[in-house]
Amino acid sequence: MHGEVQISGAKNAVLPIMAATLLTSERCVIRRVPRLSDVRFMGQILTWLGAQVRLEGDAVHVHAKKIKGAGEYDLIRKMRGSICIMGPLLGRLKKATVSLPGGCVIGARPINLHLKGFEALGAKVVIEGGYVHASARRLVGSAMFLGGRAGSTVLGTANVMMAAVLAEGVTVIESAACEPEVVDLANFLNAMGARIAGAGSPTVTITGVKELHGVEHEVIPDRIEAATYAIAAAATNGEVNLRGARADHMHAILDKLNESGVKVERNGSGFTVRRNGRLKPVDITTLPYSGFPTDAQAQMMALMTVTPGISIITERIFESRFMHVSELTRLGAEIEIEGPSAIIKGGKNLSGAPVMASDLRASAALVIAGLAARGTTQVNRVYHIDRGYENIDGKLRQLGARIERIEES
Ligand code: EPU
Repeated sequence: MHGEVQISGAKNAVLPIMAATLLTSERCVIRRVPRLSDVRFMGQILTWLGAQVRLEGDAVHVHAKKIKGAGEYDLIRKMRGSICIMGPLLGRLKKATVSLPGGCVIGARPINLHLKGFEALGAKVVIEGGYVHASARRLVGSAMFLGGRAGSTVLGTANVMMAAVLAEGVTVIESAACEPEVVDLANFLNAMGARIAGAGSPTVTITGVKELHGVEHEVIPDRIEAATYAIAAAATNGEVNLRGARADHMHAILDKLNESGVKVERNGSGFTVRRNGRLKPVDITTLPYSGFPTDAQAQMMALMTVTPGISIITERIFESRFMHVSELTRLGAEIEIEGPSAIIKGGKNLSGAPVMASDLRASAALVIAGLAARGTTQVNRVYHIDRGYENIDGKLRQLGARIERIEES
């Protein structure tokens, strides 16, 4: 793969930011919005809650003049990220009802920490008939610890931050998630008139305000999309310039790519990746930011399958995020799972086969492996990939990949 690819806005930044528009009765405009099924879906949820939503080019206009506080079951269930409407609804209306999101293929995905945070703000939380009801006469800021068994929670931090911006007094979240997407949300909220300090660190302090106003905001580039193209370039011995990518959000990923023999050169508008001789095996453990992200684990595993030597990848965030392993094996990869670790005996010649995508990042890994494999690979259930990658087939074709989308009948 050779050439240049434009990195889109970050899915995991835009979803909570869209939810945050519920906090004001004024109009908000969000720019650099990727065209993804998850974004359209969040738009439907906001519309259902009573907001006016308009998608225009790479902008979303939201005007939540009047809203209601309940989320329909099927809407929430379809996309786990939609749980982050709960914080804004509670903040603005002092009540929220949403369906309890179930688990998903990557793990159990509880929301106990979100609820712990709402309760710490004075909300009463009741779970009944598959729904979570949270309500409060008033929300009052307090100190809370939001660390869980796998460390911090990204959407939990976002949710509590969004409820706390309109609470009375000061909220302090300890063990807050430090992900760049949390910082982007805090910047959006502060531009609306919120008073949040410390976002990006484990201690976030929120001083409640009475009211928020409409704003325009451009979301950060998607570090996981950028990582995916960087890894694809490495797996195909290519050279790709990632236009708009933020290397400063990707230290752990770029460090591992560097260790595996990939050269990364920053330039004014992003960075270029190219192989630097032979690929080398690496050991990776996924961790909350600034550690190696779980959302790039599957793609990195695809790279390790074509890297001579033994690599060990340990997944510490989601207990069953190894669904791609059996499909990679169908392409000829040799991978063994031992508890939370996958041991990859890399350097095998992969050969194309029909494979099944199980979730978003697993599909990206299968596409990367398919590009590196001899012959043709058919990735089925490709709708998973459209949840989080804007025009992935078009972007890859532009880089010289031979890839086409076949409509499912
Ligand atoms: N956890 C709890 N209790 C909670 C919440 C989380 O125990 O109340 C645990 C989870 O089970 C997991 C860990 O904490 O073990 C981290 O989960 P987190 O809450 O951070 O995940 P999330 O906020 O639901 C977001 C992204 C995911 C990404 C994770 C981790 C969005 C919309 N989703 O999910 O993105 O994997 O953070 O970085 O922002 C993806 O894009 O493919 C994706 C799955």
